[in-house]
Amino acid sequence: MIRTERLLLRRWRHADREPFAAMNADPAVVEHLQGPMSRERSDDFIDRIERHWDEHGWGLWAVEVPDVASFIGYVGLWPADYVEPGMVEVGWRLAREHWGHGYATEAARAALEYGFTDVGLAEIVSFTVPQNERSWRVMERIGLVRDPSGDFDHPRVDRVAYPELVRHVLYRASREDWLAAR
Ligand SMILES: CC(C)(COP(=O)(O)OP(=O)(O)OC[C@H]1O[C@@H](n2cnc3c(N)ncnc32)[C@H](O)[C@@H]1OP(=O)(O)O)[C@@H](O)C(=O)NCCC(=O)NCCS
Repeated sequence: MIRTERLLLRRWRHADREPFAAMNADPAVVEHLQGPMSRERSDDFIDRIERHWDEHGWGLWAVEVPDVASFIGYVGLWPADYVEPGMVEVGWRLAREHWGHGYATEAARAALEYGFTDVGLAEIVSFTVPQNERSWRVMERIGLVRDPSGDFDHPRVDRVAYPELVRHVLYRASREDWLAAR
């Protein structure tokens, strides 16, 4: 569990399942993802997140804004072995009504700190489609740097149904660069 100035990053609770499913079914939230998620797939995702915490001690936190909202979405670290073995990404997904407050950026800064200091990662990346400007602006705000040589075609995107979601831009931060920028 991590506290930041305005947020609580915590493990997931049963009560998060319903609001998480609602945001995963919101067309605005999934605009750059592969369509709305069913309740079942949303619940499966939480199960995988919680298993990952148990097995590895790091992962995606449920984000709470104390006194404002008990669950607004997730921010955290997630394996991206399918891009490159050993790669770890920092990622985020918030309910639409909680965009525009800087919550993703605030939580992502804490996630980077946890990844570099507690987990001991040498590098953390992030990636998205170029048209997901809100997402790559978070990457830039937290100090990740675009590496055009790392841009890639996402292997898990259905290229027939979602050709516009295949190409991804890659951002990186090494532990050394992150320490130097602090
Ligand atoms: C990506 C996503 C998390 C970004 O959300 P966001 O609210 O734009 O990002 P932040 O929480 O960092 O907030 C930044 C905004 O809050 C504003 N803001 C307000 N108060 C602020 C504060 N105290 N501190 C910082 N920023 C603040 C900033 O000006 C900025 O607004 P702007 O974009 O209009 O300039 C959100 O759009 C989302 O969940 N999208 C759907 C899922 C998704 O695509 N995830 C990424 C997949 S790769």
